[in-house]
Amino acid sequence: MTIDIKGRHILSAADLEPNELRAVLDAAIAAKKAWAAGDRGDQPLAGKQVALLFEKPSLRTRVSFEVGLKRLGAAPLYMSPQEVGLGKRESVEDVAKVISRYVDAIVCRTFAHANLEELARHGSVPIVNALCDAEHPCQAYADLQTILEHRGSLEGQRMVYVGDGNNVAASLCLAGARAGVSVTVACPKGYEMPDWVIARSTEIATAGATFAHSHDPSAAVEGADVLYTDVWASMGQEAEAAERKKAFAGFRIDSALLARAKDDAIVLHCLPAHYDEEIEHAVAHGPRSAIWDQAENRLHAQQALLRFILS
Ligand code: CP
Ligand code: NVA
Repeated sequence: MTIDIKGRHILSAADLEPNELRAVLDAAIAAKKAWAAGDRGDQPLAGKQVALLFEKPSLRTRVSFEVGLKRLGAAPLYMSPQEVGLGKRESVEDVAKVISRYVDAIVCRTFAHANLEELARHGSVPIVNALCDAEHPCQAYADLQTILEHRGSLEGQRMVYVGDGNNVAASLCLAGARAGVSVTVACPKGYEMPDWVIARSTEIATAGATFAHSHDPSAAVEGADVLYTDVWASMGQEAEAAERKKAFAGFRIDSALLARAKDDAIVLHCLPAHYDEEIEHAVAHGPRSAIWDQAENRLHAQQALLRFILS
């Protein structure tokens, strides 16, 4: 399928239309197979420079973007949380105007979604959201790739996200809606998805995808195809960790909960994981876990995305 998303900002998981999303996922799967077969490709981004501007720690996102860009022939330039001080050492507007003069794209991990919007408004190169407090679109694209590989399709799949209605959950709902995946968020009262995510997911839903909340994880996971969880306290919420630990007791993916899903259901977690909290170690490392493929797919999904955006 031919798509034209050259120069597109990816600030939200909803920023790819259904056909564009599917083309990125198909390209990611094809490139992953080709790489495994020894085909090293044609370095389509040779000569490009991409800034990786990170205001929070990272393992997967940083490494997968750096490796992916190098495989495509581009040069990644990583800037750590100590270096740039978006809106502190220098205004976001000035950072956007300056970095745009050096690089071909900016991949940014920040706190406020507004920082990404400002980078996009004032810069002249594509901005890719590498996680902010509202969303984590690149994660969601890798998650959908993993579901497609393991379950054979996206349309009609039923995913239950057990835990906090956070940035990862928001992007899953939005990308899921675009791809025809129905999502139920099973969370304690007070930790639901924000209204804008529900409204936008409902507005863009295709192929009969639905969105629901539940406060009963056991009932929600009945017959599910995919179980997903993430940390109870995200980066920046460390002060709430103890309170959240109490609120989320019972919202944990363990063997008993998994047994209520379909026999061939898979388990996903964006990582990093807290094994005494949101997921049992035996489940994350067991036969139904697709978590390690999911982590690998960050590389392939992002590579496919960057290739479309930059070449
Ligand atoms: N899943 C994810 O984004 O991991 P990192 O925070 O390590 O990049
Ligand atoms: N919700 C988590 C995801 C980490 C990849 C956070 O924002 O810390």
